[in-house]
Amino acid sequence: MLNTRITELLGIQYPIVQGGMVWNSGAKLAAAVSETGGLGLIGAGSMDPATLRYHIQQARRLTRRPFGVNLPLLYRHADENLKVIIEERVPIVFTSAGNPKRTTPLLKDAGTTVFHVTATPQLAQKCEQAGVDGVVAEGFEAGGHNGRDELTTLVLVPAVISAVSIPVLAAGGIATGAQMAAALALGADGVQVGTRFAATQEASGHESFKQALVQAKVVDSFLTIKKGVPVRLLDNRFRRMVMEAEASGAPRTDIMEMLGSGRERLGMFEGDLDNGELEAGQVVGLIDDIPPVRDVMHAFVAGFRQAVARLNGQLESAEKSGKK
Ligand SMILES: Cc1cc2nc3c(=O)[nH]c(=O)nc-3n(C[C@H](O)[C@H](O)[C@H](O)COP(=O)(O)O)c2cc1C
Repeated sequence: MLNTRITELLGIQYPIVQGGMVWNSGAKLAAAVSETGGLGLIGAGSMDPATLRYHIQQARRLTRRPFGVNLPLLYRHADENLKVIIEERVPIVFTSAGNPKRTTPLLKDAGTTVFHVTATPQLAQKCEQAGVDGVVAEGFEAGGHNGRDELTTLVLVPAVISAVSIPVLAAGGIATGAQMAAALALGADGVQVGTRFAATQEASGHESFKQALVQAKVVDSFLTIKKGVPVRLLDNRFRRMVMEAEASGAPRTDIMEMLGSGRERLGMFEGDLDNGELEAGQVVGLIDDIPPVRDVMHAFVAGFRQAVARLNGQLESAEKSGKK
């Protein structure tokens, strides 16, 4: 029912990728998503090389199905982590937050399937030229680091599809089967989902962070640090501090330092909801539970089916009434 270029290419049952998420997506989450028919990604952005190696080996123990690693290229251990990924022969890698030109040939030479995350059609073309196998078109609604151009998923996805010939995953604002159907209706080959999977039992974030995701409304996440490294966050004392510094004209280096001091870990992994960085997408307001991954995957597939059936039903009744 849901065969696309992505299911073929990645060897998965459903075209659903769990996006890499710093401090939230270790082996347990990635393996659970892969076990239930999607593609789980270990988030290397918050891991040193030894930790990443442990999670890759652990994921192999937990599932025989394909899984991958997300490697944000601007993070501290990116080069060493790239080495670990190649040594461990990880079959699928999603790079992000940086330029894929240097890393893609290295990964392709090692036999890896490579995707890169993009927020503009221009970067998508550069990714294709760099030799990636597919791109993730991530809209402005998405949790975590984000593009500067504020393109929404509904506009970005068809623009990226027109710009490249390789498979495209839609990301940003997708937490239900109906939203997934909308993305596939736009022509996407599949979806990448973040925030919904952060609020699951298998995610490694702190329980307080998961509860904050459940409490938040659709209006509670904000694209912050637009001049520096745009990132979509829940509002809290830390976010207000960064905004005040930005408004008072603090140099970019000062703002980067505020972010760099372990704030992601503090907020999402240690559960300090006031002083830490809390990354979440706009869909956070549609999430009101912390289920096991299995239930999320079932809900995606059932919701997708319902959405398609509803649209078909509407079309049929319109055609019937046209014949009267
Ligand atoms: C808590 C959190 C952490 C994230 N960390 C990363 C990351 O380390 N690397 C990355 O490429 N994207 C990261 N993202 C983005 C996700 O991989 C995904 O593309 C995005 O969440 C999709 O939008 P959604 O939140 O609306 O589902 C993160 C998102 C969240 C919510």
